[in-house]
Amino acid sequence: MDAKDIEADLIRVHCTEEQIQTRLGELAVEVWDHYEGKDLLLVGVLKGAVMVMADLMRHLPGSAPMDWMAVSSYGSGTKSSGVVRILKDLDADITGKHVLIVEDIIDSGLTLSWIRANLSSRNPASVEILTLLRKPDAAKVEIDTRWVGFDIPNEFVVGYGLDYDEGYRNLRDVATLAPHVYS
Ligand code: XMP
Ligand code: MG
Repeated sequence: MDAKDIEADLIRVHCTEEQIQTRLGELAVEVWDHYEGKDLLLVGVLKGAVMVMADLMRHLPGSAPMDWMAVSSYGSGTKSSGVVRILKDLDADITGKHVLIVEDIIDSGLTLSWIRANLSSRNPASVEILTLLRKPDAAKVEIDTRWVGFDIPNEFVVGYGLDYDEGYRNLRDVATLAPHVYS
């Protein structure tokens, strides 16, 4: 897909590259202060959170280890099924660690509430959530999310790691995908 075709598939921009970087910079400082002196582990959820993890980490005032988990709940559609399967588990044991789950987006919340429960059962010292985006109007379950970048409307968005059928992840802004693309 070349850049012109991509442009035609987008309706409106919700967060620009610059807004994302500014917000991640603010969140990184809050995260760093919160975990001062603690054994922090950043856990990214593949693949959507790749960009958030990379930029959040580079905004942190110091270094912290990362690990990754991959789950499937969507297939190639645009609605969460709620049925979660682990495609790739964490590399290491998280017993006693302060886990911060780094996510791209909370939509229905079904995926993340499953992941949080799963990680909490492994005896970490704590589990918190940071998400770049949240769709308050789409929530099906309530999730205690400590850090949220932006609340956005209940629309299917792409860019900055978020994909539709593996496309659009490389966009630098987050924008709504035109329904003609998937309907
Ligand atoms: P739920 O509904 O379980 O969704 O909170 C979690 C995962 O679904 C993906 N997701 C999206 N991906 N645009 C995307 O590209 C969206 O608007 C969107 N909403 C949900 C995402 O992987 C998220 O972690
Ligand atoms: Mg995700």
